[in-house]
Amino acid sequence: MSRLPRSQEYLKTGFNAEAASAARYRAAAARATADGRPNLARSWLELAAEKDALAIRQLEAAGQVRGGGEDLAAALAEERYENDSLYPRMSREVDEETAAVFGSVAQKQKEHLARLESLLDALTRSQGDLAS
Ligand SMILES: [Fe+2]
Repeated sequence: MSRLPRSQEYLKTGFNAEAASAARYRAAAARATADGRPNLARSWLELAAEKDALAIRQLEAAGQVRGGGEDLAAALAEERYENDSLYPRMSREVDEETAAVFGSVAQKQKEHLARLESLLDALTRSQGDLAS
């Protein structure tokens, strides 16, 4: 099934909105936990899981979940772009404190990049699933 470009664009917009909400709700849950409100935290986490499901629904509808190595390759491309281009460029244009945040994010992302590379390598060598 082919979709209109606008449909693709709007599915991406919806995905980004719901994925951002999920992350925001997890942050609120962590804060509620730190504040000694575990029941509130649990409710935030339940809502975050529902937001994840809405994000996933739209990502799948956009044909962006392809399975196996394709998703790993897409994740690698995204991480490389963020680390090689996005975060360095933004770091140059912000105050020192914000640049330090971006620097620590990029550093952590290098670990994710290495992990994704090794997963793709292992999946490519395997016949089906990764070894446990
Ligand atoms: Fe990333």
